[in-house]
Amino acid sequence: MRIGVLSGGGDAPGLNAVIRAVTKTAIFKYGWSVTGIIDGFEGLLSPTKTRQLTSWNTRGILFIGGTILGTTNRGNPFAYKTVVGGREIVEDMSPLVLNNIKELGLDALVVIGGDGSLKIGHGLYKLGVPVIGVPKTIDNDLSATYVTFGFQTAVDTATDALDKLHTTAESHQRVIVLEVMGRYAGWIALEAGISGSADVILIPEIPFSMDKVAEKLTERKKAGSHSSIVVVAEGAKPLGGEMAVREKAADGYVLRLGGMGEIVGSEIASRTGIETRVTVLGHLQRGGSPCPFDRLLATRYGAAAVELIANKKFGEMVSYQPPDITSVPLETAISALRLVDPEGELVKIAEGMGVSFGR
Ligand code: F6P
Repeated sequence: MRIGVLSGGGDAPGLNAVIRAVTKTAIFKYGWSVTGIIDGFEGLLSPTKTRQLTSWNTRGILFIGGTILGTTNRGNPFAYKTVVGGREIVEDMSPLVLNNIKELGLDALVVIGGDGSLKIGHGLYKLGVPVIGVPKTIDNDLSATYVTFGFQTAVDTATDALDKLHTTAESHQRVIVLEVMGRYAGWIALEAGISGSADVILIPEIPFSMDKVAEKLTERKKAGSHSSIVVVAEGAKPLGGEMAVREKAADGYVLRLGGMGEIVGSEIASRTGIETRVTVLGHLQRGGSPCPFDRLLATRYGAAAVELIANKKFGEMVSYQPPDITSVPLETAISALRLVDPEGELVKIAEGMGVSFGR
């Protein structure tokens, strides 16, 4: 048996831990060979963009961020974009991918990815490729698993940032706004906001009123609080307004969100008169060493992916349903995003303790 493994989409802490677990389990338990595909699905467009993975070259990577295989969140082989003569053309390159998978002699392909990469993996599975998915994303927005790896580390990073921002905000009697990632889901903002004791948390699932945010911060000042902390998810939007989009593809697909922290910060300053600063945490949330929870989860996912291959359960994604690692059809995994319930327990306990969601 020869199995391929690739990491697709944005990186997340724990990718190397999955690659290591897949490689070691395949080699030590089953005696298979493992081919690493370089740069996500881009690597499948050329049979030379691969690397033989061994127990030696996957040593010492468990705790290292990023991915030794490289990744990209562009380059969908079903709608591959190139520029010819100054014009963008979109082509279906899946026949080339199928040919290369055959040429590489892959008996199975492990796709480690979020929503977008798993959709591509599912597309390849429908064309006959024996695909297994592993759920990755700091956004934690996949509905078919309790949690994706990378999320917990991102929450740790954002919480650490909030701890630091509290001290400078208090020294200067300021409001500090922290913009965090998460795309259309508010999980990072919500969990880091609660853990980092934010006073206002704005998430995409609860459109906010700027009046309510300003009211809350003014009340806090009147009551004697010298500083306040506001967490803004990059996908948060005002009531009746739009998300802040940084980059869109020609077909309207949102490539990058960002900028809502700045918008909220300047509104706060002008409406309340309180000195306000904005920090955008950005890719710090994606980098660095995975926390122990993510190392363990990623290792369990990688080992479980190999077991699915051994049991020929293709077209499935490994899934964490505490306390077990199970699997779900890829189709289910990509059918719905996992979003914060505006009436759920976390939002309710935060509101019960005086946190404002701007509603
Ligand atoms: O999906 C992970 C994520 O970090 C999102 O939270 C964010 O919106 C996006 O990727 C950023 O992508 P890029 O790396 O292209 O800036």
